Amino acid sequence: MIGRDLLSMEDLSREDIEKILDTAAHMQEIGQRAVKKVPSLRGRTIVNLFFESSTRTRMSFEIAGKRLSADVINFSASSSSLSKSESIMDTARTVDAMDPDLVVVRHKVAGVPKIIADALSAPVINAGDGAHEHPTQALLDMLTVKQAKGRIAGLTVTIVGDVLHSRVARSNIYGFIKMGAEVRIAAPPTMLPPGIEALGVKAYTSLRQAIEGADVVMMLRIQMERLQGALFPSVREYSETFGLSRTKLRVAKPDCIVMHPGPINRGVELSHELADGGESVILEQVRNGVALRMALLYLFTGRPSKDEEVAALGEETK
Ligand code: NCD
Repeated sequence: MIGRDLLSMEDLSREDIEKILDTAAHMQEIGQRAVKKVPSLRGRTIVNLFFESSTRTRMSFEIAGKRLSADVINFSASSSSLSKSESIMDTARTVDAMDPDLVVVRHKVAGVPKIIADALSAPVINAGDGAHEHPTQALLDMLTVKQAKGRIAGLTVTIVGDVLHSRVARSNIYGFIKMGAEVRIAAPPTMLPPGIEALGVKAYTSLRQAIEGADVVMMLRIQMERLQGALFPSVREYSETFGLSRTKLRVAKPDCIVMHPGPINRGVELSHELADGGESVILEQVRNGVALRMALLYLFTGRPSKDEEVAALGEETK
């Protein structure tokens, strides 16, 4: 996978996903050691380009790069020359001129990581673009489910909430379907993207029906920053109809796990008792995010053509 971009879950085959999840399982072991560092990416430069705010994704990419001994540079839009109106393309070209070996991009506009990837010689990993995709989140979610349930194929995974604006939902739909799970989505009609069933999911406007018999329930944050106009009458009504509580969860399988990518609107999409309860694997998702991103950096970092050139130069000068 060295030198490839990871912009969408559609870029990955089933075999790619299996390889990433297996590599992440090895990386978890490094995170358990007293000295959490291996030399795999020594001498490599990784740039985290975050044009939109982030806690979990940005921190875990940084920790992941450092655990692999890469030099990690964090760019955040507010403290850069973007605040002097430098364009994204000029920022990207500037980063490219510093010869990074991998660039991680988050932006509030869908498609920006692709535009940057086309302009850079280094591989690009999409860390979330608008309402489009968030492939690294889907992969860490799949890792979490695989470890909690022992498998992905044959499970029923229900994704609930603001599917219309959720890059997490889109990437998870592609990923879980590719790995053989049954994916259901539940949302108010105004938050169900038209034609969503063409992706192979079952769409519900009743939370109860959607979670009946489910192995996994993944709750989504209402994306207030992406809402244009009122898509539900009030937060209270949303929480009554689509918010999840332990009582409502009773129709799912008895060992059903509850997931959320964070940040949680506590008391809106998820009750406090569930967010902190034994069914929740939310902090496991965060922990797995580090190992999963270590796996991605390990598998994708590098510019094959450049590396070959450098190796050839080494041979010549021997
Ligand atoms: C998500 C994101 O930013 O897309 N969070 C995350 O990366 N863990 C989900 C969200 O913001 O609701």
